[in-house]
Amino acid sequence: MTTPRQRYRRGRLAAAFGGLAAATLAVTLAVPAAAAGSTLQAAAAESGRYFGTAIAASRLNDGTYTTIANREFNMITAENEMKMDAMQPSRGQFNWSSGDRIVNWARQNGKQVRGHALAWHSQQPGWMQNMSGSQLRTAMLDHVTQVASYYRGKIYAWDVVNEAFADGSSGARRDSNLQRTGNDWIEAAFRAARAADPGAKLCYNDYNTDNWQHAKTQAVYNMVKDFKARGVPIDCVGFQAHFNSGNPVPSNYHTTLQNFADLGVDVQITELDIEGSGSSQAQQYQGVVQACLSVARCTGITVWGVRDTDSWRASGTPLLFDGSGNKKAAYTSVLNQLNQGGTPVPNPGNPTPTPTQPGTTPTPTPTQNPGTGGCTATYSEGQKWNDRFNGTVTIRANTAISGWSSTVTVRQPQRIIATWNGSPTWDSSGNVMTMRPSGSGALAAGQTVSFGFTVQHNGNWTWPTLTCSAS
Ligand code: G3I
Repeated sequence: MTTPRQRYRRGRLAAAFGGLAAATLAVTLAVPAAAAGSTLQAAAAESGRYFGTAIAASRLNDGTYTTIANREFNMITAENEMKMDAMQPSRGQFNWSSGDRIVNWARQNGKQVRGHALAWHSQQPGWMQNMSGSQLRTAMLDHVTQVASYYRGKIYAWDVVNEAFADGSSGARRDSNLQRTGNDWIEAAFRAARAADPGAKLCYNDYNTDNWQHAKTQAVYNMVKDFKARGVPIDCVGFQAHFNSGNPVPSNYHTTLQNFADLGVDVQITELDIEGSGSSQAQQYQGVVQACLSVARCTGITVWGVRDTDSWRASGTPLLFDGSGNKKAAYTSVLNQLNQGGTPVPNPGNPTPTPTQPGTTPTPTPTQNPGTGGCTATYSEGQKWNDRFNGTVTIRANTAISGWSSTVTVRQPQRIIATWNGSPTWDSSGNVMTMRPSGSGALAAGQTVSFGFTVQHNGNWTWPTLTCSAS
């Protein structure tokens, strides 16, 4: 079922595409007057998508960095801290500390985590680099099992295998010590990951797979097609999307994403950055976002860092915030494009069992009016998906008030994974969110204002309970 607003947005999106190549679209498309998303995560959540960033544990003490990261993003990837060399520096000795810092920061702030990466030819610990054959195969599978088990229940999606295909026109697997253990090493890694964490989506992740015409893209496509045909447990494909002038956003990007999605997997843009500046950079970012929004199973976008100065290729200024934390033109174009809406994510294909359908166990509307009596909070249902639902809380001033705060309490195992139109804080359990207005909270008597959020329900469709307090 679609709302009039979704139909309006879909219509706008179709009109915006109009046969134009994604990379050449203008960046000045109008934002609907009622656009709800004032942050990237809020705007993306309206069509059921996430917007994420890579985080470096070493920067979590930087207030500018964490303020932006907390405000804008609701999916977190550890840039280096969950790779093989970081997780298992000595054989059998796991070091969880840096990975835990990132996972804990994400969860304490109501965010989800993409795990990166379980098996990769690069960033292997020294002891593994020197291994081969069945000894290496066993060590790799043990690593996958141990790490995925340790983080079981905390990971939205794992990059199970990263960058296993060669560049160029061969369409072959990349030569590596892992590849030399046998061509089936990738599916073996996926089976081990599924056994260790059945609730995580399992992704294959790679770069230079954006252009549908490229041999590498075709090779990965054929592997995923084969995996689906043979029942190898794969749920998603990650497109790293590291672009620059020598490797621009291809005009057929939407085709690539759609073709993969048509194999029955989610697609995600996992490490987006685009070197450049100004309107040219903004335009390319817009094309990528637009391509994802037009594919129902493109479930989210992650940029590979917060500010330009945080980037692995800082000199190319490839991110959405400058070194001082200011929003760049690219940020504005991404936000505007997200606010154009897109094809809603219908069913994220979560490998966990399908829960009871929405609407079967609703509790009465939890309208409450405690405390000062100056305001009333009312809940209304929003969109629902297989694994989550949106809700809106409308705050009504009963008399003239100068400010308000509203608590939203969800029940275990529910989690709020995105919010918009307000500034949230959380209690230590993560179950109680206190929402305050982003700007002035002053309301005239009878005036209303709304904020929204996405609840990952984990099988519990119960509505949240609310309070409202006026000042
Ligand atoms: O932390 C040490 C520091 O103590 C030391 O002084 C310094 C000296 O070189 O190195 C620092 O570690 C570096 C680390 O980034 C943290 O900055 C490593 O040398 C460096 O190799 C590492 O680079 C990372 C790269 O992966 C390694 O392959 C980048 O941060 C990271 O952004 C990048 O991410 C990859 C994805 O995992 C996979 N896709 C491509 C993407 C970009 O290369």
